Amino acid sequence: MDGDEHRILQPGEIEYEHGVAIPGVIKPPAEWARTALKHLPDGPLDFQAVFGRSAPVVVELGCGNGRYTLMSALARPDHDHLGTDILAAAIRYATRRANQRGLHNVRFAVKDAETLLRRYVAPGSVAEVHVYHPQPYHDPREAGRRLITPRFLADVHRALRPGGLFVVQTDSAEYWAYMQRVMPAFFHFVEQHGPWPDAPEGRSRREIVARGRGMPVYRGSGTRRDELTAEAIAALVKELPRPTFHTRPAGRRRSQVRREDGPGSQ
Ligand SMILES: C[S@@+](CC[C@H](N)C(=O)[O-])C[C@H]1O[C@@H](n2cnc3c(N)ncnc32)[C@H](O)[C@@H]1O
Repeated sequence: MDGDEHRILQPGEIEYEHGVAIPGVIKPPAEWARTALKHLPDGPLDFQAVFGRSAPVVVELGCGNGRYTLMSALARPDHDHLGTDILAAAIRYATRRANQRGLHNVRFAVKDAETLLRRYVAPGSVAEVHVYHPQPYHDPREAGRRLITPRFLADVHRALRPGGLFVVQTDSAEYWAYMQRVMPAFFHFVEQHGPWPDAPEGRSRREIVARGRGMPVYRGSGTRRDELTAEAIAALVKELPRPTFHTRPAGRRRSQVRREDGPGSQ
């Protein structure tokens, strides 16, 4: 299905979005899962209770329609997945897709990323955190809403178990330059040149859209710097720059995009 989001899907059917298959196939209703996490507790989530087993937990923040979480949950049935977004409509699509694919190792919740990490994720409780295409906010008045900040990175570091992995991706050259500056302080940061091998056509909806428009995509990941003490992290949060860069929509500077189309792009 592509551009016809409200058609009833048939068991065995494969859905398409921008010409790229959404991972998994629709199962018969008797095999559907219930993946909406509608009520969050007062404190940190007990993942063992949520998923009914003990398994490594993968968290995706700002997951949009959930394409990456679906793909990872299908490819890694031995991992549990929590996808969250601030937008209820996006989570409705994500939840419906996971339900119809019978993905019992997935939950989706409506929650902003900062609150989720601070209030609902216990220190050292997750194996991976993923963020794909956080909004760059081109309007300078909205720059304060940018997700990737030293404080946010400290919260990701705190949520991850020792050796845990953080994955980021953006199609904004300016946001990427900022991430290159701050990520190595908290993580053993490595840039991924070209698409992730597990998703040659794109891990997320925004990646597929951006590449379809000929925009560069920048990707990277890093394991947690386990040696950082609480004092060292507090100092990093205080000293590292905040994301105050200036940016414009890429469409307005195509010639510049061509020049930026280096090895980290695709
Ligand atoms: C550009 S979209 C990318 C969606 C998806 N990750 C992708 O790559 O297709 C940015 C997403 O971040 C969500 N978002 C924005 N601010 C957020 C926040 N503070 N916490 C969680 N999600 C947020 C938006 O609702 C939107 O779904």
